[in-house]
Amino acid sequence: MPLILGIESSCDETAAAVLQDGFVLSNVIAGQEVHQQWGGVIPELASRAHQQNIVPVVHEALQKAGVGIHQLDGIAYTQGPGLLGALLVGSSFAKAMSLALGIPLLAVNHMQGHILAHFIQDKHERNQPQFPFLCLTVSGGHTQLVRVDDARRFELIGETIDDAAGEAFDKCAKLLGLPYPGGPLIDRYAVMGNPKAFQFPIAQVPGLNFSFSGLKTAVLYFIRDQTAKNSEFVSENLNDICASIQFTIIETLLKRVKKAIEITGIHQLALAGGVSANSGLRKAIQEFGREQGITTFIPPLAYCTDNAAMIAIAGDFQLLTGEIANQNESANPRLYLGNIL
Ligand code: KG4
Ligand code: ZN
Repeated sequence: MPLILGIESSCDETAAAVLQDGFVLSNVIAGQEVHQQWGGVIPELASRAHQQNIVPVVHEALQKAGVGIHQLDGIAYTQGPGLLGALLVGSSFAKAMSLALGIPLLAVNHMQGHILAHFIQDKHERNQPQFPFLCLTVSGGHTQLVRVDDARRFELIGETIDDAAGEAFDKCAKLLGLPYPGGPLIDRYAVMGNPKAFQFPIAQVPGLNFSFSGLKTAVLYFIRDQTAKNSEFVSENLNDICASIQFTIIETLLKRVKKAIEITGIHQLALAGGVSANSGLRKAIQEFGREQGITTFIPPLAYCTDNAAMIAIAGDFQLLTGEIANQNESANPRLYLGNIL
């Protein structure tokens, strides 16, 4: 029954969680409001906020779990990908703690964490995907299609060639004058709008890759042209514009997922990453699964956006396979999600 402390500090959330045998005892997240006024994450400010948050967040996670540090069997932290300064805070903290306690250090790939979040257990009963399965990971920094053969074998079969899906949400939201992060706000307005009101292009990219930068440009020119005719266009049509943007992003994702299922013949599809919190995408994936006769897995909202429970569960798998990190392991902003065996 390994007791693992997970630490996540790759971007703008300082998080810590304690899991026992894959079961969540605590899951604490401190957001960073400091970025809102800048319309995006400022790396320098993120690192400083992590420095301030890390001790109280870890302390709270241990307290809520009712666990003393000497009971821990391992410390998992996010090695990358992410912002270097932000990663350094979590990795230095985890290394120091592992050294002081003499317990295994587990260096986790953040993107693998998002996928393995499907194996987190809590008081709610959930079906878990069986290997092999496909995972569509959609976050603020990444959009990936991954073939998962087991908890330690990941094959990247498609990814974005420019913006990530979350980035597309956030950039389009910014064009509409919405604050950062705009993804959840587009979701909220889209619920009240018509997804077919306006048409935006779906990029044609070879293979199983994605592209979202054209959408941002199309939205930019669309808003410029419409506001030239009517300065109130955005406020008068906000729900319809958001619904149409969201519809385009979802269609772009589903097109590639469909192709990936055809190519691999795998009939289990998992969704992961911050954008999997999007209500339209969650509904669309479920409908898609029913139509195509495939089983779909959608994480609970708490494990979609960045959290440390996903880092702890990934660390748990690594402890099981004996992948213990060295003290000289360095944080890696561009850590690759590939076939690691
Ligand atoms: O996985 P995540 O928390 O952080 C990264 O690893 O990037 O993902 C954050 C991204 C942001 O772009 C945010 O706007 C998006 O997820 N997001 C959403 C929603 N909730 C979060 N996008 C659309 N609809 C949502 N409900
Ligand atoms: Zn993430």
